[in-house]
Amino acid sequence: MFAALLAAPEATDAASSAPSPISPVAAAPAARPVDLVALGRELFFESRLSGDGSRSCASCHAPGKGFADGEPLSRGYNHAGHFRNTPSLLGLASKSRLMWDGRYAAEDLSEVVAEMIVSPVTMNGDAHIVVERVRQLPRLLHAWQRAWGERSTPTVDGVVAALAAYSASHGNDETPVDRARRGDADALSALAREGLRLFEGKAGCARCHSGDAFTDGRLHRLGVPDNPQILRDPERTVSLLRHHAVLGAREPMSVRSDTGAQAWTHRAADRGRFATPSLRGVAHTAPYMHNGSFATLAQVIAFYDRGGGPASELQPLGLDAHERDALVAFLEALSPPLAPLSAPPADDYATTAGAGR
Ligand code: HEC
Ligand code: HEC
Repeated sequence: MFAALLAAPEATDAASSAPSPISPVAAAPAARPVDLVALGRELFFESRLSGDGSRSCASCHAPGKGFADGEPLSRGYNHAGHFRNTPSLLGLASKSRLMWDGRYAAEDLSEVVAEMIVSPVTMNGDAHIVVERVRQLPRLLHAWQRAWGERSTPTVDGVVAALAAYSASHGNDETPVDRARRGDADALSALAREGLRLFEGKAGCARCHSGDAFTDGRLHRLGVPDNPQILRDPERTVSLLRHHAVLGAREPMSVRSDTGAQAWTHRAADRGRFATPSLRGVAHTAPYMHNGSFATLAQVIAFYDRGGGPASELQPLGLDAHERDALVAFLEALSPPLAPLSAPPADDYATTAGAGR
């Protein structure tokens, strides 16, 4: 829906004639994947894509923090606090549902990126700003031309495809856990190996955290407690109400807690259900859950051990302290050191002599 809203009317080049997006790369048959990711990297760190030039994708999805921000709740845009935690982008490529409440399918990653650019709680940008920036900033224009061809005109669809490709390019490397699951007996410490056994057995984690990204892509109710900060902070409260109103929830102004998937499915049974997140790199992305309720992995495990919160579909696990430690060691083994990544050097508006127009 947002891609349609964003499509610049004058867009006529290769990017806009691409078939409707299936995956970031399929959406961009004219671009070499490596060049598309390189363009995406330039754009990801560019704060001048936002409405007031104050924040980039990387302001919230910080590479040094596993592409999350280390805060319980995302700071949001100026004068618009967010009501959710910033999710990590590690393992994004293997997920099947996106956003904490699973309201987008993975095929709609471009729509998620477009929403990030235009939403008043994230970047408050628009199609015109984005296209102008690529035309005006030499570094962006050069990266654009390498990806889409010397003579192609910047379009919002091409920008979104590049950001999507870059976003999906992290956390896909093999971890010690992947090696252990392939049969390499020495890949894990004894404690992490025990954690893997518990994860797949007694603790029942793999029931939901399955597959390459350790997610089943489904909605579940764990009973994670509300984060009281959302109602204490009027800006965050307004964002919560607005989110429910935009999605067409019934009586959005009387909402007092994040209803999760119910806000978009409009089914009472989905109240408080959230999509299983990826666990790749999870040790780097505290605090945890859709509202940052838990500061550490040990707190997350203790929550599961209790059988979750009110109305949870979980059962108490009866883990002893050693077993809880083993599960934490396992999650740490899923989180190899982050690849060092630096921001591209800043770029001035300089004379591009109308190139790209
Ligand atoms: C102000 C902070 C902020 C900024 C800036 C921001 N994001 Fe996000 N991002 C979030 C939050 C919060 C969510 C989760 C929203 C939800 O679940 O409703 C999110 C979700 C996502 C997701 C879905 C991840 C998943 O696993 O479901 C992707 C992809 C993403 N953002 C990419 C981007 C890109 C690309 C940009 C820049 C164009 C960007 N974000 C800018 C805060 C931000
Ligand atoms: C019934 C399905 C289900 C089971 C079983 C399950 N999880 Fe989860 N897990 C989820 C969902 C859904 C979330 C997100 C909940 C939310 O944000 O409200 C989550 C969140 C997490 C997170 C936080 C991730 C982040 O980025 O914030 C961790 C860590 C985690 N689970 C580990 C485990 C471990 C370890 C086990 C086994 C003890 C387990 N899970 C069992 C569904 C499940």
